[in-house]
Amino acid sequence: MNYNKKTVKDVDVKGKKVLLRCDFNVPQDKVTGAITDDKRIRAALPTIQYLLDNGASVIACSHLGKPEASFDKWVKKQTEKGKDPASLTEEKWKKSLDALRMEPVAERLSQLLGREVILAADVVGPDAKAKAAALQPGQVMLLQNTRFEKGETKNDPDLAKAMADMAELYVSDAFGSVHRAHASTAGVAAYLPAVSGFLIAKELEIMGGALASPKRPLVAILGGSKVSSKIGVINNLLDIADTIIIGGGMAYTFARAQGGSVGKSLLEADWLDYCNDMLKKAAEKGVKFLLPVDNLCAAEFSADAQPVLHGAMDIPEDMMGMDIGPKTVAAYTEAVKDAGTVIWNGPMGVFEFPAFAEGTRAVASALAETDAITIIGGGDSAAAVAQLGYADKMTHISTGGGASLEFLEGKELPGVACLLDA
Ligand code: 3PG
Repeated sequence: MNYNKKTVKDVDVKGKKVLLRCDFNVPQDKVTGAITDDKRIRAALPTIQYLLDNGASVIACSHLGKPEASFDKWVKKQTEKGKDPASLTEEKWKKSLDALRMEPVAERLSQLLGREVILAADVVGPDAKAKAAALQPGQVMLLQNTRFEKGETKNDPDLAKAMADMAELYVSDAFGSVHRAHASTAGVAAYLPAVSGFLIAKELEIMGGALASPKRPLVAILGGSKVSSKIGVINNLLDIADTIIIGGGMAYTFARAQGGSVGKSLLEADWLDYCNDMLKKAAEKGVKFLLPVDNLCAAEFSADAQPVLHGAMDIPEDMMGMDIGPKTVAAYTEAVKDAGTVIWNGPMGVFEFPAFAEGTRAVASALAETDAITIIGGGDSAAAVAQLGYADKMTHISTGGGASLEFLEGKELPGVACLLDA
């Protein structure tokens, strides 16, 4: 995929109405609806500010959560989740949509920008159209949750055109959503010149650079619970990396595949052959493939469980692996010392429980100390690095969860592919 895309700096924005796709899919308090982490809103500020400073007006838009835009589909999904169909009223469905309106985002964005954010009552309805038509240079408006429109996730061309019709330029800065081929993330680019904002430009430069021409040796550290969610990443990185390090829950499937005993640890029995194929591919390609040699284990999945150390291939029947052990930590930290680039996606253990956080903490600390370019994939690894206090020591922490994973898989990202080549 071509990562070299035009940015807002490559086009004239003066006097233009800019449809700006952001990823304002922020976590909210379930009861009050208050935004619990505004990182994604802050991440969009440089692009918004640049557009305003250069004489544009901004029509920002984003999805928020996973609202179900059709009542019938909502009923179907709730029923599948075990809800009694008789209790599923239209009123409850509307309430579920109300919980995902953009009001809290508009308020926070307005506070951060220090200026008014005009909020539309709809996405491409009469209110949005009227407000967009009246928008003046230097003003910011925000559309309602793009997923309130049925056509959004279907990448409906009529919806994309209706959004595009309100503006003269499309800027995407929603890195977290570039893996979605939706009307607002990709479809609109068929109707407007499309360029990236600064956030996507940075993600493409750093992550794209690390994949296309990494400073070597390139070490990839992959953790998280499931091998099945990282198949594409391991496969792609085996063609690029010099060393691959495996931790987290997925290591137990590798251990089992090699004939080890993993007790009650997470195991994906359907992926044993795949693990052996990956080990074979690594050997053929001369890629170092490091697996845990020891694990901190517990009798139960609990924060209070007593940690007990076992060899990675000898976890007793009644125990489960919860973290990498000290010998593994030593080997993994040694491997990143002389790296040119380190890409890390997925924690080494159950870092949410302090007794089992040491493996993840030690890897984060090693990354903080190395001179290598350090790139943290989004989602859990970004959360771990932030929770453990190492966020400002990394070269780059991706704002995408699923998006950064698909990026590392080498997949074409619709929200990037749709932008004009530089
Ligand atoms: C994310 O939170 O990863 C992005 O906003 C994408 O959200 P989605 O998985 O609902 O498309």
